[in-house]
Amino acid sequence: MAFVVFEGLDGAGKSTLIKGVEAHLQTLGQVVHLTREPGGTPLGEEIRQQLLRVQGDTPVPRAELLLYEAARAQHVERVIRPGLAQGKWILCDRFSQSTVAFQVGGRRLNRKIIDDLNRYATDGLQPDLVVLVDLPVDESLKRMSRREQEKGQGKDRFELEERAFHEGVRASYLAQAAEEPQRWLVLDGLQNPDQLLKKLLVEMEKRGWLAFSSK
Ligand SMILES: Nc1ncnc2c1ncn2[C@@H]1O[C@H](COP(=O)(O)OP(=O)(O)O)[C@@H](O)[C@H]1O
Ligand SMILES: [Mg+2]
Repeated sequence: MAFVVFEGLDGAGKSTLIKGVEAHLQTLGQVVHLTREPGGTPLGEEIRQQLLRVQGDTPVPRAELLLYEAARAQHVERVIRPGLAQGKWILCDRFSQSTVAFQVGGRRLNRKIIDDLNRYATDGLQPDLVVLVDLPVDESLKRMSRREQEKGQGKDRFELEERAFHEGVRASYLAQAAEEPQRWLVLDGLQNPDQLLKKLLVEMEKRGWLAFSSK
């Protein structure tokens, strides 16, 4: 088992890929816990609602950052660490890497402070692998507006941000991947879901993570 985080812009294909990996691991008899940030715990899901709100007392950038970190601390202590201790796979839709991408790359907050807060909230826990589904901003915006039309879903606060914000987020993801190439796998989100799943499974195989019989 391992702790695998999925990152990328909205519409990149994270949810689709996670479900594919989950299904594959389950056919191999593995116990998988699929979770997400912000959220993953009852408290975290309440915080998520406050973070995505578009009306009323919307959080200022520093409050927003601290809410993410509060939800993360709860998630790590109540769900992720216990799950790993029980031998479960943890597949997490967004984690600390999103905070760097959105709050530093998008909102231009101070990186050092965010790294320190991430370390505090996670108590030093880091994913074994971060899968970045990289997508050009244009394609992300296109997929998001399609989703909105199909589901009649309104935009949340991040989807309403302007283009430069999303470009900053994407650039930060790619920079983080370049800083720690052994921890990150960058996939081309323009490929189809089957191709993406196959590439990820090849990487997991290469790391010896799918060789259960030998354990
Ligand atoms: N590899 C892909 N190529 C093209 N479209 C995709 C791909 N993966 C997902 N999609 C479509 O793009 C939209 C967003 O996918 P989703 O997995 O929900 O992304 P995310 O969770 O990153 O926001 C959905 O309509 C989905 O069907
Ligand atoms: Mg999703």
